[in-house]
Amino acid sequence: TLIPTILCGGAGSRLWPVSRELHPKPFIRLADGQSLLQKAFLRGAALADAKEILTVTNRDLYFKTEDDFREVNADKMPTSYILEPFGRNTAAAIASAALHVAASHDEDALLLVLAADHLIVDQRAFNDAVEEAKTLAARGKLVTFGIRPDAPETGYGYIEAEGNDVLRFVEKPSREKAQQYLDSGRFLWNSGMFCFAAGAILRAMEKHCPDILEATQACMRQLRTAEGKCLTQMELPAEYFEKVREDSIDYAVMEKAANVAVVPCSIGWSDIGSWTAIGNLTEADAEGNRVEGEVLLHDVSNCYIQSRDRLVGAVGVDNLVIIDTPDALLVADRLRAQDVKHIYAKLKASG
Ligand code: GDD
Ligand code: MG
Repeated sequence: TLIPTILCGGAGSRLWPVSRELHPKPFIRLADGQSLLQKAFLRGAALADAKEILTVTNRDLYFKTEDDFREVNADKMPTSYILEPFGRNTAAAIASAALHVAASHDEDALLLVLAADHLIVDQRAFNDAVEEAKTLAARGKLVTFGIRPDAPETGYGYIEAEGNDVLRFVEKPSREKAQQYLDSGRFLWNSGMFCFAAGAILRAMEKHCPDILEATQACMRQLRTAEGKCLTQMELPAEYFEKVREDSIDYAVMEKAANVAVVPCSIGWSDIGSWTAIGNLTEADAEGNRVEGEVLLHDVSNCYIQSRDRLVGAVGVDNLVIIDTPDALLVADRLRAQDVKHIYAKLKASG
């Protein structure tokens, strides 16, 4: 049994103004009309032995998520949801998913943890990587998917590897270290996707972060006594969930566990971290401009411009990102697309 498990949590503050608190990054639609979340769903549902798609997300995003899934779920893949009152990071989200899968299937059922907001363009290579991961996971390994890196990214975790063996994890290194890792050829990016048996990850949590496991367990027990056993929408009660310590699965388990394995892969993966990354998905014209929507240009180069509702004109500018939406407009230096998160932070601070 394989249960693709989609984690949908982060705000995606670098993709403001399209990404908002109630319209976060997974719901962003790409030029082909599909959202990142829909792509994650289809990626999981396409796996031959997928039994159901389990999604762990905020309760305020439930209806939006269901709408997105309904639009693409022609095959009626069963879906179930664990709904969080607030984020407690990935260790808690994975603990609740594993407890649910162990209870509703069995301890040997495999979870395939997928992020709601990544892009993977080579589905066939992805399927092959999943097959390899399943074999390792069936032997009790906690499997990560390691992407062969092509740039000294500092927003990712790195895995030093030899074949399927993990030598060490380094979460979000400095630029200098990242460059060394890239040059050494021994490191992979931690994709944030995982494959493990429900029982294996629960045992690892018991050992390495028992407090998170116990607090999540208390929360799940609450919900089972309240509703009976065959739940497809499980809302975690806030008064219990708030007691769960916030930590990522990388820090809480993967960096500490001895039975970790990695599947090195080249699957056309990107975590779509900024407008530059989204821009790179569209073809550039001879001047290096990438545009989506109705845009008129004169003497413009190396810009990414997106407007889905209004006509945008630009004259004599270079290296800008311009994102127009009905109620907000972003104009940013293309090389500083990462800093858009500061606008998001200011907005949040001002309520
Ligand atoms: N349900 C739920 N609840 N999902 C969450 C929560 C939460 O509280 N927090 C994060 N997620 C989801 C995010 O939506 C995303 O899909 C995934 O879990 C990873 O969380 P991020 O917050 O995006 O993590 P990160 O980008 O800092 O780092 C992780 O991903 C990188 C690759 O994108 C790490 O695993 C890095 O090592 C990795 O390189
Ligand atoms: Mg991320």
